[in-house]
Amino acid sequence: MKAVIMTAYGNASCLEIQDVEKPMIGENEIFVRVMGSSVNPVDCKVRQGDVKFISGRKVPRRIGSDYSGIVEEVGRNVKSVKSEDEVFGMVRAFTGDAYAEFITVTEDQIALKPKNLNFIEAGVMPLVGLTIYQLFFEVARVSYGSKIMINGCSGGIGHIAVQVAKSLNCDITGVCSTKNIEYAKSIGVNHVIDYLKENILAHESRYDLFFDAVANLTYKQAKHTLTLKGQYVSSIPSFQNMILAPILNLISTKKHKKVWVMPDAKNLKALCGLIEDGKIFPTIERIYPIEEVADAHRHSETGRVVGKIALSF
Ligand SMILES: NC(=O)c1ccc[n+]([C@@H]2O[C@H](COP(=O)([O-])OP(=O)(O)OC[C@H]3O[C@@H](n4cnc5c(N)ncnc54)[C@H](OP(=O)(O)O)[C@@H]3O)[C@@H](O)[C@H]2O)c1
Repeated sequence: MKAVIMTAYGNASCLEIQDVEKPMIGENEIFVRVMGSSVNPVDCKVRQGDVKFISGRKVPRRIGSDYSGIVEEVGRNVKSVKSEDEVFGMVRAFTGDAYAEFITVTEDQIALKPKNLNFIEAGVMPLVGLTIYQLFFEVARVSYGSKIMINGCSGGIGHIAVQVAKSLNCDITGVCSTKNIEYAKSIGVNHVIDYLKENILAHESRYDLFFDAVANLTYKQAKHTLTLKGQYVSSIPSFQNMILAPILNLISTKKHKKVWVMPDAKNLKALCGLIEDGKIFPTIERIYPIEEVADAHRHSETGRVVGKIALSF
């Protein structure tokens, strides 16, 4: 079978398509023919070697987090899906292997694909959708009608956050550059701040949730924009939000948190429900055939993508 192999750590040229052996599945595993995937910034960070302390150091290795596809075979203990089911999901981002013709997953990493999405659309949703599902319903437990700031509202996680916030009837302030103002309004942002023209921290508004999707700010910088019980959540784990914040949160009404997406079949099923109810829909800026995966990574690394970059198989 064909799979994308990282031959070294470094720029996108180290991604190659190679023939690898088709694995045998275990009794708790599911073998999926991959039809769609996507490029997430974390895939580029793994490739660059920025997160070796989590991803490991060994190369050559496989890569990729998101997948959609068709179940080929299931192990005898698998109950949640069967052969021929159309599915989607994510594997662990730092050790992923989803850029391949086939992958082996476990039941916590799979759910039936939303019926109203094709394989390309479904293949871009799992990682960003789960991140935002876990942010809104587990990390921050956002209430209906909250005031929300989304820094980076036009990107992969940002555009899903806007739509989930909209479904909760939140008042949404979104930050993006001039070129994305109309797009941001079109997906539901109520107040757009153009970071090229305005200081986003100088506004008088106060937020129940400040979601820093770009993670170019700190809690200290954004704290004054929070309501008394407001929460600042960063998309990038740091010493501050992992180690210090849980202690300082005990004595402050304002909270400093991080989101760290994990595969979760129950969350994936709930995400599927939100998609099928028409509450969220992915924007896909461009689809690359898997043979052009290196170009897809270069595109993602511009940091300017609106919505998602899809990979087709
Ligand atoms: N912790 C987790 O579990 C988790 C999960 C998913 C993602 N992440 C991380 O979260 C970050 C964002 O992910 P993503 O998928 O949304 O990335 P992305 O799709 O590459 O984000 C691109 C978007 O960011 C916007 N942007 C760039 N600079 C900005 C700035 N200074 N202010 C506001 N917006 C800006 C761009 O809008 P303009 O072109 O208008 O500038 C563009 O639309 C990445 O670092 C990723 O690794 C973490």
